[in-house]
Amino acid sequence: MSVLLSWFWDNHRDLPWRKDRTPYSTWISEAMLQQTRVTTVLDYYPRFLERFPSPQALAAATEDEVFKLWEGLGYYSRARNLMRGAAYICEHFDGELPSEPEFLLQIPGIGPYMAGAISSLAFDRAVPAVDGNCIRIYCRLHALPLLPSEKSTYDEIYARVSRDIPKENPGDFNEALMDLGSLICTPKSPHCSNCPFATTCSANLLGKQEDFPLKKPKKETPVEDHTILKIYIGEKILVRKRPDKGLLAGLFELIDLPGILEIHEVESWLITNLGIKKGASDIRPLGASRHVFSHLRWNMLGYEVHLPASSAKADKKRKNITSVKADKKDTSVEISIAARAEALGKLVTPEEYDRLAFASAIRAYR
Ligand code: ADE
Repeated sequence: MSVLLSWFWDNHRDLPWRKDRTPYSTWISEAMLQQTRVTTVLDYYPRFLERFPSPQALAAATEDEVFKLWEGLGYYSRARNLMRGAAYICEHFDGELPSEPEFLLQIPGIGPYMAGAISSLAFDRAVPAVDGNCIRIYCRLHALPLLPSEKSTYDEIYARVSRDIPKENPGDFNEALMDLGSLICTPKSPHCSNCPFATTCSANLLGKQEDFPLKKPKKETPVEDHTILKIYIGEKILVRKRPDKGLLAGLFELIDLPGILEIHEVESWLITNLGIKKGASDIRPLGASRHVFSHLRWNMLGYEVHLPASSAKADKKRKNITSVKADKKDTSVEISIAARAEALGKLVTPEEYDRLAFASAIRAYR
């Protein structure tokens, strides 16, 4: 395995979380890197650490503040877990991350991979950090016909890495596997001629690199249709906060109606839900977009809606008003639409809107 370390020292990637490493910075970078590309994390990592430089700072933050810095990284449960983890570290470990996996595993959001990564990278403990990269590399090295998602596969690879990981530079060993998995031993078309294991890797010698590890037969991803409405009422925009549990929990979103609605159906919805008169709303199509979650796909059609203050049906009933058409100054009319809108969500100014953390699924309409 010394070829791996030599390869790493000559070829490692220069990444910000590898400089001035602390246990806390390792934890933050590992949380960001779960399910997310290195190039995406590069921008987020320094901003996050600057704003929340310690578990204490993170534990004292509000969820909206943390989500705003996380906006676009996706998988927001990681951000919420970091906040919970920070509170736990402050309460149970005097504000310092512990060095041993068994204690790290007590922290909300830290699982076996992350415990191994923090313990080895930040504390030089010879503990495996087994992730998908590591499983792929070992399955190819030894031509192991195993399914990556099986617990027994994890256990098998963990045992093999435990035997191989050196007492000296265990963190470099784990990061070498990460870099080898990203740069050389890629899921498709691996670059075997540049691999330090080219002459010993069983899959390479068999010419069957892509047959290892085994692949699970693919299930069809369920698809949902959504209509997204960016509704302006006067200058303000109607937003909603998603529930605290479930998909995109706690994030802000625009009005999201089930199905792909045509323009006249959007108008009917506005008439029913906001009391708008027929023909009084300005509805502009924003086009289609899609977002792929890990387990679900959204097909979306967006509309921008501008509601003039004079279009509330309710005002027809008000005494002394024969025509409300050009009555833009009549703020009581605006209040009546606003009141209906506030029952559906929250009206925010454009400045407030820019500060909210939005579900990236609807970024096309943001
Ligand atoms: N992926 C997960 N952790 C990583 C790290 N420390 N360096 C590069 N890629 C990673």
